[in-house]
Amino acid sequence: MRITGSSRIYGIFGDPIQHTFSPAMHNLAFETIGLNAVYLPFHVLPANLKEAVEGLRSLQIRGINVTVPHKTAIIPYLDEITLSAKRIGAVNTIRNDDGKLIGTNTDGEGFLTSLQEISFSPTQKTILLLGAGGSSRAIVVALAQANVAEIFIWNRSTHKAQQLAQEFQAEFPQIKINAVQKMEELHSYPIDLLVNTTSVGMNGVDSLLNLEQWSGIQHVVDIIYRPQKTPLLLQAREKKIASMNGLGMLLYQGVLAFEFWTQQKAPIQQMKTQLLSLVS
Ligand code: ATR
Repeated sequence: MRITGSSRIYGIFGDPIQHTFSPAMHNLAFETIGLNAVYLPFHVLPANLKEAVEGLRSLQIRGINVTVPHKTAIIPYLDEITLSAKRIGAVNTIRNDDGKLIGTNTDGEGFLTSLQEISFSPTQKTILLLGAGGSSRAIVVALAQANVAEIFIWNRSTHKAQQLAQEFQAEFPQIKINAVQKMEELHSYPIDLLVNTTSVGMNGVDSLLNLEQWSGIQHVVDIIYRPQKTPLLLQAREKKIASMNGLGMLLYQGVLAFEFWTQQKAPIQQMKTQLLSLVS
């Protein structure tokens, strides 16, 4: 890649930032479609977030991704945010339109798009989500906007699942959104899709449930992508349940961010190959 005086600058704000795959994915995408642009990691400490956002305007940085811990804290510094970002309460992508900063959130939509990889269409389906953190919020909003029939939310601390269910039940009255206290009650309930949004399984050992005890689960997604096969996904494979890890969500949140910035079609296959080479 050759950087010139007219290269456009994109990047990511986070703390820590050194483990991000986004620069490798986006730089390859720019190169593939022949766009004179570069994507850089920016290590932004929470105390410097406001100045960093002002820097986007003064340096005419065209677009930025936002990751932990800035996704919610950055909102007050932006000029406009999309409805999805507002509902989720977090922004992961910002476009700089001549000094006007527009925030959106591609995490939930990225998750939704990735479901095509297991041929899953969410309309009127029943979903069980494990976890009630930031990723869970993004996924609940995307699923609700895609008109699922019913969402069950289980969380280690039940009150957070209850809060989330209550908040989104009011926002999406046409969908049934319930907090689950005892997972056993769902063991034989027909569940079209189970999604793990927690960090349980990252150690390659733990799983929040034993699929042997469940009879109604049709599809499983674990949003973890390292390891690529979590204990939950290994169980799903054993039971011949269609399943997928979080690489698809990571890929498609990037694809949607790329298209939000450039208004051009992202080179999905090349971005996917790049991500796969980084995790394996
Ligand atoms: P993210 O943005 O990735 O969703 P988060 O907002 O910190 O991260 O949320 C982490 C989620 O993983 C929460 O649902 C958390 O449960 P609690 O609300 O009870 O903390 C869940 N989680 C993390 N470690 C867990 C564990 N050992 N067992 C069960 N759930 C766990």
